[in-house]
Amino acid sequence: MCGIVGYIGNKKALPLLIDGLKHLEYRGYDSAGVAVLGDDLNVVKTQGRIKVLEKKLKEFPLKGTLGIGHTRWATHGIPNEVNAHPHYSESKNIVVVHNGIVENYLELKKMLIKEGHNFRSETDTEVIPYLIEEFYDGNLLEAVQRALNIIEGSYAIAVIAKSEKDKLVVARNDSPLVIGLGKNENFVASDITALLPYTHKIITLENGDIAEITKKEVNIYDKQGNKIERPVQSIQWNAEDAQKGGFKHFMLKEIFEEPHVIKEAMRGRIKNDSIEIPELKNLSKDYLKNINQVFFVACGTAYHAGVVGKYLSEKYLKIPSKAEVASEFRYSDPVIDDKTLLFVISQSGETADTLAALRLGKEKGAKTIGIVNVVGSSVAREVDNVVYVHAGPEIAVASTKAYVAQVEVIGLIISYLAKSLGKLSESSERTIVKELKMLPEKAQSILDRADAIAEFVYNTTKNIEETFYIGRNLDYALSLEGALKLKEISYVHAEGYPAGELKHGPLALVTPKSLIIAIDTYAPLYKKTLSNIKEVKARKGKVLAITRKGYKDMESVADKTFYVPETIPDLSPIISVIPLQLIAYYTAESRGLDIDKPRNLAKSVTVE
Ligand code: G6P
Repeated sequence: MCGIVGYIGNKKALPLLIDGLKHLEYRGYDSAGVAVLGDDLNVVKTQGRIKVLEKKLKEFPLKGTLGIGHTRWATHGIPNEVNAHPHYSESKNIVVVHNGIVENYLELKKMLIKEGHNFRSETDTEVIPYLIEEFYDGNLLEAVQRALNIIEGSYAIAVIAKSEKDKLVVARNDSPLVIGLGKNENFVASDITALLPYTHKIITLENGDIAEITKKEVNIYDKQGNKIERPVQSIQWNAEDAQKGGFKHFMLKEIFEEPHVIKEAMRGRIKNDSIEIPELKNLSKDYLKNINQVFFVACGTAYHAGVVGKYLSEKYLKIPSKAEVASEFRYSDPVIDDKTLLFVISQSGETADTLAALRLGKEKGAKTIGIVNVVGSSVAREVDNVVYVHAGPEIAVASTKAYVAQVEVIGLIISYLAKSLGKLSESSERTIVKELKMLPEKAQSILDRADAIAEFVYNTTKNIEETFYIGRNLDYALSLEGALKLKEISYVHAEGYPAGELKHGPLALVTPKSLIIAIDTYAPLYKKTLSNIKEVKARKGKVLAITRKGYKDMESVADKTFYVPETIPDLSPIISVIPLQLIAYYTAESRGLDIDKPRNLAKSVTVE
């Protein structure tokens, strides 16, 4: 998730590129760069924000009317100047900016190195300009087409060749790219926000499209090279709406990104229907066999992802496993040694308690695996092995898409470790992979019914005094996260509780003014939770049940039933959390609250 801009026309490109990048800074902010083609093809880039780049450009003003720019949110390679985009080809005759992930970059890089090429950065992106150069014989469009034929993964790219001063070539696959049409000038950007000050006439590229853009023309081709037409839309959004993709809040936008996030989190981790975690290749079977306990430590939402991890770890690895809040773990003198595997989960990678827990674990000899979103962050640097979740920048304080990605990556890692230990059969692995691949679509089908959740919330939650989220096993893990989301942004008191434990206390609180969100998606315990729901109904509490498609008998028990698509129970949290996030969102929205910046809370808590 980075920002891309491009310009071709009669005006000076540089100020337009910088202005565009400033509009995209919310998408990525760890480094930035521009390339402008004038008499020569020059690149200026820096670590840090756009203002640092602007300062550097004062020393190297770039002249020309064709250029591309990029603001980075690192995925491969730490945020520094060398890894910043644009990236040159080896001869410096071609430059590329890229959003997304090149899945097969290691193979491609190896191949190119074998042929004698030298790379400058640690990025996956750099193979793109190198490959384009391999294929280049005077026709940039053709060279890009040929390079993309062998690139696997997601991308939005913009490319310039030194010897073709009148054109910009762009392409997309699973990463957004739009073209803005002007008079004797055209623009490109990774999202509309950057274009609105200049044009409202927009073409949205589809997956597989490649476009050749001059200042007067835009020609679009499909993967096979056939010329195609894409509609020109007239967009009436203002800049603020556009940053949020037309959504009212970043939180809602981030929830709606989840189908894409689910796809990205598995990218490069499923090869020929087999689960591979390249980042963990160095964990030997002998080491794994010796592990005698597993810990998941984290704070807030990341901790709740750890609770899912604990259930999956015990079930698949058959090793005693615990999830602990990092602020407790660090002061509890935990029994840990070199047979302990410690998972450290953090979106930001900077949470003070989580870092302290990690350091303690390492000190006591544990091997550590970080599940982190922000590349190059402290947790990422300090763990023995880091597995990035690739959720993209999360702006709303309440974490949503990062949770989805964390749970998915934990599931992938546990499956991979179980396989390495001979505890996962080939057929179970195949089923997991098959189901995983269907999850983006299933997540989308939940989002397509967001209105039903909004309607329930608007009609039901106004006079509610108490909210309980209940569930068993993985649904219990979800109930903790559902309750946290509601508390964080709507300021309604909520508790996540094991469904079977309700009658040992909280049931005393249940009245007609209580709302119980019953999560009953975990198939093996469906009937058990159903009985607990009946207990609540007997005390006249209001029940919204989130259950699996096909469990029709729920309708006669709950006040309202929301169905989530069927999948294997152990993958269910990845999608079943979506209605819970939407309940919290619409509750806060109906109360007119500052959803993206809830009172008293911070996105990254770097103090203990
Ligand atoms: C804060 C945020 C939460 C987040 C928690 C842990 O409390 O408001 O959304 O879950 O920190 O953050 P981390 O970056 O370590 O995942």
